[in-house]
Amino acid sequence: MGGIAAMRTIATVNHKGGSGKTTTAVSLSAALAETGRRVLLIDLDPQASASAWVAAPTESRTLLDALLGGARLSDAVHHTGTLGLDIVPSSMWLLGAERMLAEIHAGEGRLAQLIGDLPDRWDYLVVDCPPALGALTANALASVEELYIPVEAHVMAMAGLVQLLRGVEAARERVNPRLRISGIVACRVDARTRHGPEVVERLRGRFGDLVCSTVIRENVRLAECPSFGQPITQYDARCSGAADYRSLACEVIAQEVRHAPAA
Ligand SMILES: Nc1ncnc2c1ncn2[C@@H]1O[C@H](COP(=O)(O)OP(=O)(O)O)[C@@H](O)[C@H]1O
Ligand SMILES: [Mg+2]
Repeated sequence: MGGIAAMRTIATVNHKGGSGKTTTAVSLSAALAETGRRVLLIDLDPQASASAWVAAPTESRTLLDALLGGARLSDAVHHTGTLGLDIVPSSMWLLGAERMLAEIHAGEGRLAQLIGDLPDRWDYLVVDCPPALGALTANALASVEELYIPVEAHVMAMAGLVQLLRGVEAARERVNPRLRISGIVACRVDARTRHGPEVVERLRGRFGDLVCSTVIRENVRLAECPSFGQPITQYDARCSGAADYRSLACEVIAQEVRHAPAA
């Protein structure tokens, strides 16, 4: 296993689009990197929004080359403009991988295999999942130990969550016994209305401590910063979005002891 045991592996997952997966994957990764931790972000979404956010556009050395092209995952690692944050970018061609991964033998375990071969260079691996429970997300569920589930704290936030939890349970039983949900993250909480905090309360009532203490407030700066190619911690270090994701990073870091390899 080598140093891999010390690397924490996280995926942001929710089959609902627009729930805050990419925003959380990128912002949490940047906030972790800010504390000196070395983070590798893997963009598993053919829409490539995390890639477009923090990396220069590229069609070479992408995740696809490693998933299906026989390249090593470490050869597809690109630096970003954020110190300590690297990325394996996606591309729209990954869409074709969805079908191929479902067809090839042991396709569900491809990403896990690639991650297992990574050099011991990062403290955190963060996988941004596509908005579907297809073969790509199945690869994420087979690869990581921890899931963070961003939930858009608007109407119907909980619809679909039960289905997602069932999918996670099935993946745990079938392919990855170490998989667990580390936190449900309430995103886009509009504190100015009663509705936002109400949704958070309902989440807490239903899922208890599984819901992260940190709540991500609605913040227009978070919606803006992808167009400027910077994570929120750099784009506007003092806005509420930066504060909320730093707070989430603190919660994540607080669990590092649980993940320390036994001496
Ligand atoms: N806390 C927030 N405040 C304002 N806008 C947000 C916030 N979180 C996400 N968004 C915006 O909502 C949209 C969906 O978020 P995104 O992270 O892309 O979701 P997903 O990856 O789950 O599809 C994006 O346009 C994003 O900029
Ligand atoms: Mg996304």
